[in-house]
Amino acid sequence: GAPVEVNISKIEPGQLVRVIWRGKPVWFIRRSEETLKNLPSNDPLLADPESSVEAQQPAYAKNADRSIKPEMLVLIGICTHLGCSPTYRPELAPADLGANWKGGFYCPCHGSRFDLAGRVFKNVPAPTNLVVPPYYYKSDDVVLVG
Ligand code: FES
Repeated sequence: GAPVEVNISKIEPGQLVRVIWRGKPVWFIRRSEETLKNLPSNDPLLADPESSVEAQQPAYAKNADRSIKPEMLVLIGICTHLGCSPTYRPELAPADLGANWKGGFYCPCHGSRFDLAGRVFKNVPAPTNLVVPPYYYKSDDVVLVG
């Protein structure tokens, strides 16, 4: 399939924009400074905090933020358990997400949870982190997925 071009300049902090690439939902989320600062505090609660499973992200996104530019998260919006689409839950702690919830994604099908880098929490059915698709910056404002 052809690459998908996305202008990210209008995406506000905290906003999720969804595009389709090869029939799959791809999310763009602009993360705030506070979100980025909170990410490491999730590490002890995660199944793969270091993103050690190579297939889940390109090498250039195998870092603490799982992205090329820290503020812009790009993910395939498909649960790594059985393929439902997780919901974006950026706010703190609805009761079903637990006291340590600092925002992320919640899969309504079987309760898998992911943080705001798409990293999966321990003790949920999803076996791996959400997939980061191949992408690159054509300019400061334009990203190509694919
Ligand atoms: Fe997401 Fe099962 S498909 S938890």
